[in-house]
Amino acid sequence: MKRIVILTGAGISAESGLGTFRDVGGLWSQYDLEEVATPQGFARNPALVHDFYNARRANMLDAAPNAAHAALARLEAEYPGEVLLVTQNVDDLHERAGSKNVLHMHGALSGAVCAACDHRWPAPRAMDPAAPCPACTAPRARPDIVWFGEMPFHMDEIGHALARADLFVSIGTSGEVYPAAGFVDEARACGVETLEINLEPSLVPGLFDRVIAGPATQAVPDWVAEVLA
Ligand code: OAD
Repeated sequence: MKRIVILTGAGISAESGLGTFRDVGGLWSQYDLEEVATPQGFARNPALVHDFYNARRANMLDAAPNAAHAALARLEAEYPGEVLLVTQNVDDLHERAGSKNVLHMHGALSGAVCAACDHRWPAPRAMDPAAPCPACTAPRARPDIVWFGEMPFHMDEIGHALARADLFVSIGTSGEVYPAAGFVDEARACGVETLEINLEPSLVPGLFDRVIAGPATQAVPDWVAEVLA
């Protein structure tokens, strides 16, 4: 194996105490996605959207990376080939565990962006909807997060990496949100071997060449040890 592309979702951070979206009791059973994770919801009620992401950011800052994040950082450091980590997660637990080659396709809670002029700056723990943009002074700060209906970041780079990968690994994602949900098909179409690591195997049987079922904090370190052995 020379090049590994890894996609992570909320399941990898679940055992760090961050909520997933679609599991029983998940975030989308507590909040209306249309109101907190769309540009239209933000236009209707910026304060509600900031409250939602301020709570996510506080949760993230109070959490710590777990053994699965640490194992992926170890893989990047010790694997003789290339390891690219593509995450749908907006938390920074991969970076805090030591991963460096990380693409946040859905943005990051650590960032703020001005909806008026696109200026970006580090987000404070609690963003204030009325705070002026440091560049243009418009009171239009939003978290630097990709909402439903918006184009995810780094899509060209991810597409190139998938096409030239030897192995694609999907970890802790329900595979319900596109375009990330389509990466396994893109990889297979290019002859790339595919592996899923998830609490429960993906709903579509045979979608991946191999499936490892189990909690990320056990399954991911075990798999990394296997690759590095
Ligand atoms: P989901 O909540 O849809 O899926 C989480 C997945 O993690 C499920 O398949 C669970 O079985 C699995 N899981 C839960 N606990 C686990 C554990 N301890 N170990 C391993 N797997 C576990 O979250 P995502 O697939 O990440 O986007 O959701 C994708 C996108 O939908 C998110 O990035 C977010 C959301 O709406 C936006 O907000 C734009």
